[in-house]
Amino acid sequence: MQSNEQDKSARPITVAYGDGIGPEIMEATLSIIMAGGARLKIEPIQIGESVYLKGITSGIEPSAWESLRRTRVFLKAPITTPEGGGFKSLNVTIRKTLGLYANVRQCPSYAPFVYTKHPEMDVVIIRENEEDLYGGIEHRQTDEVVQCLKLISRPGSERLIRYAFEYARRYGRRKVTCFTKDNIMKMTDGLFHKVFDEVSKEYPDIKSEHWIVDIGAAKLADTPEDFDVLVLPNLYGDILSDVAAQIAGSVGLAGSANVGDGIAMFEAIHGSAPRRARQNVANPSGLLLAAVQMLVHIGQGQVAERVHNAWLKTIEDGIHTYDIYDPEVSTEKVGTREFAEAVISRMGQKPTKLKAVSYPDKLPPIQIKLKPGKKPDKKLVGIDVFLDWQGNPEVLGKSLETVAGPEFSLTMITNRGTKVYPGGMPETFCVDHWRCRFQSPRSEETVSDEDILKLLTRLVRSGYPPVKTEGLFTFDGKPGFSLGQGQ
Ligand code: IPM
Ligand code: MG
Repeated sequence: MQSNEQDKSARPITVAYGDGIGPEIMEATLSIIMAGGARLKIEPIQIGESVYLKGITSGIEPSAWESLRRTRVFLKAPITTPEGGGFKSLNVTIRKTLGLYANVRQCPSYAPFVYTKHPEMDVVIIRENEEDLYGGIEHRQTDEVVQCLKLISRPGSERLIRYAFEYARRYGRRKVTCFTKDNIMKMTDGLFHKVFDEVSKEYPDIKSEHWIVDIGAAKLADTPEDFDVLVLPNLYGDILSDVAAQIAGSVGLAGSANVGDGIAMFEAIHGSAPRRARQNVANPSGLLLAAVQMLVHIGQGQVAERVHNAWLKTIEDGIHTYDIYDPEVSTEKVGTREFAEAVISRMGQKPTKLKAVSYPDKLPPIQIKLKPGKKPDKKLVGIDVFLDWQGNPEVLGKSLETVAGPEFSLTMITNRGTKVYPGGMPETFCVDHWRCRFQSPRSEETVSDEDILKLLTRLVRSGYPPVKTEGLFTFDGKPGFSLGQGQ
């Protein structure tokens, strides 16, 4: 209905109306941007609840992928993942399948028209979108223990961090801040931090800083005006983008762009809010601002500017949906449709108290090229074997010493990462999940895959079948594994 089919300059985009409040806020968003002059050819697809309930466990049909891969631009309303049944989040599937590595979330204050304790804040969060604990690789290995793999890659970190600096440069931002927990996760978060330090040197015009995420998050919540662009690993970015959007005014106001190489998805950061569905109350602003980012992305910057300024004028005029309604500053409480009409009727106007935006009409998307690195020399020096076992670590240690030889020595056993053998403390609480580290008896020496196979065979035959193993490697002589806590 809203496409301008006849217009040859219309850009094909894929649209999903979503679940819960999705269809209402999508209708509102499309009516506003079309009134603003967007030239679009809309291809609707079905994803989410209705598809899951048809028995398609991914929540998306092959024909929908086909549309996404053809149009390469996706405007998506929130969807509901049915509870139970172990369904994987479709949001995450789409981001990862299409390589949408950067998630850009703008969180400015709209004070005094939307209540905030932080009227000066104007934070942009650039969140890594494919890796980290969002790999969703989880296993139950013993009666008592489950695990989730946290994967951080150099190329994944590098292209995201480069994107953040390119974004900062393009939009005249002064500082990029990175948060990690690399005092604890020295290898995973440590890599992200290291790549941040390396890349930041190539952008001397932009300030850069790193905070440990706990104190960084506290500062962000307390004095967000001290931050400008934030670049974060996936999970911290998920949490802190909700915090930033909420303290700026409301999570209901923030849009997000999920950007890949020549392909992108635009969505609100909030969920499908089924309890608010079909009542004409939901605030379409998050999705609308995502659509504004989409218009910039497809080179319809003038339309984006017109729509964004009309929206700012509406907010400034006090025309507010229930979620941001405040009798002190609002002039009218409106529903979803009335809000859309109010924005449409202000098309062409600019805010006078809030800062008006301007977008160049044809802005090529930010493209990232990775620097090829030199492949390090990788050597196998041992193996960590995880066992499902119950008892005293001294007993396990003594027994495994005999199984280890002659190719290996047992260098330590940890329980939940804490060294319990040799020289454990009786106070350390142990569960039924033990990591046993086997290395060459001659330190620093490499071991062979054949020797590892023999060790594993001896372990199985001695009644210690592994629940998991991890190779121990050195890279250019430096260990690619962490020590035990207390080692
Ligand atoms: C978001 C959401 C998603 C996420 C959920 C719905 C999978 O919280 O976009 O921030 O965790 O990334
Ligand atoms: Mg989230």
